[in-house]
Amino acid sequence: MSGAEGRKSIFITGAASGIGRETALLFAGRGWFVGAHDVNAAGLAALEKEIGAANGVFATLDVTDVDAFGKVMAEFGAATGGTLDLMFGNAGIGMGGLIDEQPWEQALQIINVNLIGVLIGVRAAIPLLRATPGSLNLITSSSSAIFGTAGIGVYSATKHAVRGLTEALSIELKRFGVRAADLLPGLIDTPLLSDRMRAMAPAEGEWRLVKPLEVAETVWKAYSADVLHWYVPEELRAFHARVVNEPEAVREERTALMAMMAE
Ligand SMILES: NC(=O)c1ccc[n+]([C@@H]2O[C@H](COP(=O)([O-])OP(=O)(O)OC[C@H]3O[C@@H](n4cnc5c(N)ncnc54)[C@H](O)[C@@H]3O)[C@@H](O)[C@H]2O)c1
Repeated sequence: MSGAEGRKSIFITGAASGIGRETALLFAGRGWFVGAHDVNAAGLAALEKEIGAANGVFATLDVTDVDAFGKVMAEFGAATGGTLDLMFGNAGIGMGGLIDEQPWEQALQIINVNLIGVLIGVRAAIPLLRATPGSLNLITSSSSAIFGTAGIGVYSATKHAVRGLTEALSIELKRFGVRAADLLPGLIDTPLLSDRMRAMAPAEGEWRLVKPLEVAETVWKAYSADVLHWYVPEELRAFHARVVNEPEAVREERTALMAMMAE
């Protein structure tokens, strides 16, 4: 099959690596037309080779650039005949640092990419989403949106923000018959995860290391379901319930963990 005609379509940000890349490959393999976008041009070129130029559009995009986002969304819409079944706002940066030590410019950059960039994407996608029956706006939040994560506080705050944004959108977008959901991944084996976190991941449980393919499979499931928050792995849902019921106990455990990591 070539071109977008008669096929469902997905627009992915952060498509050149990790979760976005696996999702692009999985959806293309199942016959979807893929809009792959990223700041990493070389990664996009490699992805295009694997997927095939006829099965998507591959365009560099910095999600913080409003005008550029509008332009690539228009190009994508022209390729699909004005439809978009799944908007996947996934691009993110994961730089850490204690709040009082992190360079201010870095903190702003995290907020720009992880929150402002997602918001720009949602606003750009709404016209196509509302023109498409059964469409979904999906955002990659994080398990760090369950309980504020020390050491990556600004990152964690942006992920709380996009979780809240998703909940608001899940109500607002009903006016257009569009669903909204988010992903709350735990520790996913991608370049974003620090070597230290990767090494610390236990063999099982909610903090085990998860392959990005498992997250891509969750994106696939999300399209066909009416679920607001997707935990990957699913055990994180129980952690979330515990955070709601016993936040002080979780705070004390995390404080002990931080002290241990500082040793
Ligand atoms: N890896 C994890 O453990 C983990 C856990 C929870 C949430 N997440 C989230 O998953 C999402 C995907 O991350 P990943 O783990 O696949 O990491 P990754 O680094 O492999 O992929 C992120 C991609 O986003 C792109 N990107 C960065 N800034 C961009 C910008 N301004 N515009 C466009 N693209 C940009 C990068 O070039 C990269 O290709 C992120 O939002 C991240 O916060 C990851």
